[in-house]
Amino acid sequence: MPIASSPLDADRLWDDVMELADITDPAQPYTRRSFTPLFLRGRAWLANRFREAGLSVRIDPAGNLIGRVEGKVPSLGVIAVGSHSDTVPSGGRFDGVAGLIAGLEIVRALGDANAHLSHPIEVIDFLAEEPSDFGLSCVGSRGMTGALQQTMLAMKGPGNEPLGDALRRVGGDPVQIAAACRRDVAAFLELHIEQGRVLESRALDVGIVTSIVGIRRIEIMFEGAADHAGTTPMALRHDALVAAAQTVVTVRALAEQLSKGADYFVATVGILDVTPGASNVVPAGCRLVVDIRTTNLALTEQFVTEVERESRKHAAAASVSRAPLVTLSDGSPAVCDPVLRTQLHAASSELGLKATDIASGAGHDAAFMTRICPSAMIFVPCRHGKSHTPEEWTDRDAIAAGAAVMLQTVKALDRSLDRDGSTKKGGL
Ligand code: GLV
Ligand code: MN
Ligand code: MN
Repeated sequence: MPIASSPLDADRLWDDVMELADITDPAQPYTRRSFTPLFLRGRAWLANRFREAGLSVRIDPAGNLIGRVEGKVPSLGVIAVGSHSDTVPSGGRFDGVAGLIAGLEIVRALGDANAHLSHPIEVIDFLAEEPSDFGLSCVGSRGMTGALQQTMLAMKGPGNEPLGDALRRVGGDPVQIAAACRRDVAAFLELHIEQGRVLESRALDVGIVTSIVGIRRIEIMFEGAADHAGTTPMALRHDALVAAAQTVVTVRALAEQLSKGADYFVATVGILDVTPGASNVVPAGCRLVVDIRTTNLALTEQFVTEVERESRKHAAAASVSRAPLVTLSDGSPAVCDPVLRTQLHAASSELGLKATDIASGAGHDAAFMTRICPSAMIFVPCRHGKSHTPEEWTDRDAIAAGAAVMLQTVKALDRSLDRDGSTKKGGL
């Protein structure tokens, strides 16, 4: 719903969301993959906008683009807001971008009102929130929270480039990665589109996130033998894809079972690479990536153990071998800070907006930020819950309403963090 007298410029916010979204691969809207020239174009645009709004701009060693306005009291910790500018292939215009531009708009609105906060405020474009071509997601927020390990920096992407080298290409510094870990953030807030249907179906304006799922991604490789598809008798084949296909079905069946319990649980095979990938060759190799999400880590362990056992059986049945499972990335479930959540609820009701508590089945940089500071998220409705597709849509007024809640909360935080003496760098 439109807010009667919005404290921020809803048109400026909307126009900038559209402008950044338009920096896309024209053949595959909306695509701005991390580490690509298009991604860097998007960031150059964003850095310009930051500077126009009076923010100082830097890139930290983990490749996060950060705009900052100093506060009146130098000893106070940072109030940080932000999200991500990268997209999945053929993604939407709002996933990440809405939260990023909302963060920028908050700073612009404070500037317009000549409101100078006591705390410094930073708007952060986290590097590579989406699973990157290196197999890792949340690269920047991992780095900012001390969770980007050396083994991850060695992960290989297109052209066999190590992630560490790609990080350098976008302005980060793999050698100084420890210096990206922050101790000076007092609070973090992220606005995001819901990517689900709860808010829309209940005609609510905002969701205040209670917890964010943990995500583990595992790689499974089957190796068989390439043979002529016309001349090799069925009994003599070593078809890696057959074992992989059975494994996809196993993943689905196990996930369905586990999703019937009290905890949130989903699992997906979204990558299936077949080699050599020719219609007249028996598949010699097949690589699967399984994305597992839950609020209860014990379920992930149980699931992976069963997938390990079943996929070994499928390999034996198809006369192929299966390499040991590889964990590509692993993030724990995260709980949003109760004090910040209360403040987000209070701001929503002061603005006359209808809010609800909501759990997040999507991953977010905020999940990593909970490791270093009190963090919380606000969701705004999106049409039919569609996301990670060009159909993704949310209304101008929906983003503006969410941004207004964030602005109100940032102002309240600036006062309350100061008042209760917990303003020191490093936490509420
Ligand atoms: C991030 O978009 C995710 O995969 O949840
Ligand atoms: Mn996404
Ligand atoms: Mn996102």
